[in-house]
Amino acid sequence: MTSAPSTPNSAPSADTPEPDVYPPNPAFAAAANAQPSLYDDAARDRLAFWETQAERLHWHEKWSDVLDWSGAPVAKWFVGGKLNVAYNCVDRHVLEGNGERVAIEFEGEPGDTRTLTYNDLLAEVSRAANAFTDLGLVAGDRVAVYMPMIPEAIVTMLACARLGLTHSVVFGGFSAGALRSRIDDAEAKLVVTVDGQWRRGKPAPLKSAVDEAVDGAESVENVLVVRRTGIDVEWTEGRDLCWHDTVDPASPEHTAQPFDSEHPLFILYTSGTTGKPKGIVHTTGGYLTQVSYTHHNVFDYKPDDVYWCTADIGWVTGHSYIVYGPLSNGVTQVVYEGTPNSPDEHRHFQIIEKYGVSIYYTAPTMVRTFMKWGRAIPDAHDLSSIRLLGSVGEPINPEAWRWYRDVIGGGTAPIVDTWWQTETGAIMISPLPGVTTTKPGSAMAPLPGISAKIVDDDGKDVGNGGSGYLVLDEPWPSMLRGIWGDMDRYRDTYWSRYAEQGWYFAGDGAKFDEDGALWVMGRVDDVMNVSGHRISTAEVESALVGHSGVAEAAVVGATDDTTGQGIVAFVILRQGVENTGDPLIAELRSQVSTDISPIAKPREIHIVPELPKTRSGKIMRRLLRDVAEGRELGDTSTLVDPGVFEAIRKA
Ligand code: WTA
Repeated sequence: MTSAPSTPNSAPSADTPEPDVYPPNPAFAAAANAQPSLYDDAARDRLAFWETQAERLHWHEKWSDVLDWSGAPVAKWFVGGKLNVAYNCVDRHVLEGNGERVAIEFEGEPGDTRTLTYNDLLAEVSRAANAFTDLGLVAGDRVAVYMPMIPEAIVTMLACARLGLTHSVVFGGFSAGALRSRIDDAEAKLVVTVDGQWRRGKPAPLKSAVDEAVDGAESVENVLVVRRTGIDVEWTEGRDLCWHDTVDPASPEHTAQPFDSEHPLFILYTSGTTGKPKGIVHTTGGYLTQVSYTHHNVFDYKPDDVYWCTADIGWVTGHSYIVYGPLSNGVTQVVYEGTPNSPDEHRHFQIIEKYGVSIYYTAPTMVRTFMKWGRAIPDAHDLSSIRLLGSVGEPINPEAWRWYRDVIGGGTAPIVDTWWQTETGAIMISPLPGVTTTKPGSAMAPLPGISAKIVDDDGKDVGNGGSGYLVLDEPWPSMLRGIWGDMDRYRDTYWSRYAEQGWYFAGDGAKFDEDGALWVMGRVDDVMNVSGHRISTAEVESALVGHSGVAEAAVVGATDDTTGQGIVAFVILRQGVENTGDPLIAELRSQVSTDISPIAKPREIHIVPELPKTRSGKIMRRLLRDVAEGRELGDTSTLVDPGVFEAIRKA
């Protein structure tokens, strides 16, 4: 077992290999929000521990029971409790005398800025809530949000939460078709969007995609449009409303009503193993409890910190660690609209320097991109305000971890590698800064209050040194409550694999090392992880076969130095269709882009004469992955025609 030096004096000499463990700095540990006793408290009485965490929030009415698991796998947390999420994220801070505190430092891509205090945020959210009410929306209705990272997006989400409207945020990079299917599935009545969004210095239309998406969509009554870029948009009278004429003149006074702890807060669509995205449903009391608790302890947030999570609100990280977790804790945070290299690669570091960002939370793919750009770029800036770094979305490779700490974290900032999912709602596995001795690349251990196991096919613990499937063997407050409109799929996807034991199957492979540190290895299903975005192989395959020239397609995720995985497609053309090479491949890539999103565009498309199949007709993706990664082929004995690879390799 490697042991860590406890003081700088016991640091290894030049000829002993440096132990690759990072114990907490004593000064950091002494001041940390999280203390080792958290683990003891949770171990002593898990449910009582969660009750204590729930007391972080303001409850209009207290719960009677902490957990009702009798309807498993659908949990009820803080049964009978009543609260208002927006009140907790905004009003409470104003009432406590912190109305002048900055909530959001907004940095637009073109360089425009806006500062919103908690007073401002309360007025904006109240106006939006009054306007939404005037549109006839009532608690339980669904609202689709299709917006870039601007304050109005956050205001919209909070106004929905305030009124008990269930929001469904759709990432602004998704196509009109993807937006339409999400609007239809949730039967959204209102769509909130912008005229256009800034992308690399240019306005890109967004409202036009909404026009296409809502054409004939029965549920949609109104489209509310924020003017962001000033570009011309088509206007449908009676349906389309301008935010500035609708929300701006509304009253800034609004009294928040309490909702049941299990009232649905949002639906967020994520890729599964079939072509149809799953609408993950989250509710109110348990969700807010866990995002608030984790944000406080994992990010060690203190009142004089400036926090920046670089995610987009279109993903769960934006929901939980830009909107609900941080705002419930009254943070001051940076919200940046644009891409990291606009106008150049210095942008993130300029922002860190300008606002004095002290807590920075991003994805490993971003860190690897910075590495590729070179350390001269961050080194040109004063990043000394950084005191804690976070990572999320995919496993972080040890090399990127060390670079992140050395170059961005000044060689001292602790890194929290946080494992969680859209489905888990909040962080589940992560070091606690100031408590945990970390290892580069390991998410270390379940947080206090969370229980996880790594098991084999039969559900047996793999033990230290073993690898297997990651399962969550106890319910947790921010767990999903189902898949919107498809509870059978919910049971089947997450709860059927270990039905006997009643465990949640996460779909990730993981291992414990010899010291018991937990390493997440990546997906074990047909879901790819590209730059931290979950994309299913089936979705991309169905987009490809949607092209008239394609007979069949097989898609795999192949290791990629920057994006984690890259999408590699193998395509068989229909009889008589000519393979024109590059023009055809460009057409296929753009087909995927318009059908799903540019983020789902394959890195490579190979036109092949045949696909490797088993006798039962199943495509052997494992072998295609070998081909895509340039490896020796694995076992080909079950193939109908092992010669097929000759042909694929030549293609
Ligand atoms: C992966 C993002 C390793 C994992 C919050 C998971 C990670 C999927 C980590 C969920 C991490 C996320 N280490 N893998 N720290 N964080 N993942 O729903 O495969 O977009 O199942 O949620 O991302 O992705 P999702």
